[in-house]
Amino acid sequence: MAPVIRTEGLTKVYGEDRGIIDLSLECGKGEIFGFLGPNGSGKTTTIRTLLDLLHPSSGRAEIFGLDSRSQSRAIRARVGNLPGGFAYEKHLTGRELIQLFARLRGISDLGRAEELAQRFDVGLDQPLKQLSRGNVQKIALIQALFHSPELLILDEPTSGLDPLMQAEFIRLLEEERGRGVTVFLSSHDLDEVERICDRVAIIRSARLVAIEDVHDMHRRAMRHFVVRFDRPVELEPFAALPGVQQLELVDGRLTFSVSGTADAAVKLLAGYTLTDIEITHPSLEELFMTYYGGDHE
Ligand SMILES: Nc1ncnc2c1ncn2[C@@H]1O[C@H](COP(=O)(O)OP(=O)(O)OP(=O)(O)O)[C@@H](O)[C@H]1O
Ligand SMILES: [Mg+2]
Repeated sequence: MAPVIRTEGLTKVYGEDRGIIDLSLECGKGEIFGFLGPNGSGKTTTIRTLLDLLHPSSGRAEIFGLDSRSQSRAIRARVGNLPGGFAYEKHLTGRELIQLFARLRGISDLGRAEELAQRFDVGLDQPLKQLSRGNVQKIALIQALFHSPELLILDEPTSGLDPLMQAEFIRLLEEERGRGVTVFLSSHDLDEVERICDRVAIIRSARLVAIEDVHDMHRRAMRHFVVRFDRPVELEPFAALPGVQQLELVDGRLTFSVSGTADAAVKLLAGYTLTDIEITHPSLEELFMTYYGGDHE
């Protein structure tokens, strides 16, 4: 199947400043794709370029197999977006703003705006200038979702949402994915990306440094064991575990790490009487430290 989003050497430079350099990625139908990177790494630039709000300096992007520049009008009707750094008309109410966006998209009704407003617990009839930051964000999200688009391109969608609303939003995205909707979202919140995304691209200093499947990453990750026994044990059987690292036995406390499956270690431990055991996974954050590590730009 053709990818829903495809970029090829996509580059946007702002004069001397970097924006994004040579970005190539693909995002499949029904996928929740996370775009992760520190401040200033190029997330908003990428999203605005995909949405044809910025023009690439070189390279290209295709959405639904259509060219992001020459066919942007046809693309726009099928996409819901949160472009980031967007200045809303603060004197308008939520309803008026959504009506405005509906007209821009050539749609005559407000679709499921009311239903979403109820779900997010926000009124549509107050001027935006009277709303809190989180509630303005909810209106912005409703604006992206009300017409049930088949692709969502969202720049930091949960920014400003409280944990309850963040959880509600994640549930909503999962429902959307269930209907075959594709989601491309940016974030610098690793925990959030870990909870929501199927795949994640890491961008740093304008360049793509990795694309990983979140579940694969966890499968490959190290498991850390801390074990106590009811009697003294020998180290040798544990040293023979495939891929074992950081093996240590201090005061009857055995610690080691294995990569990938924990199965062999668990089977070996089954032959002992344990008084305590702890098996921990690294968080996505720890896994990504290798990419982020060192200097933050
Ligand atoms: N309009 C602009 N003119 C010049 N430079 C810009 C402009 N917009 C962004 N940049 C530069 O491009 C780089 C990427 O910025 P961008 O806003 O895409 O980062 P980001 O990953 O979205 O960051 P954040 O997490 O802070 O939102 C930065 O170095 C930024 O200073
Ligand atoms: Mg940004």
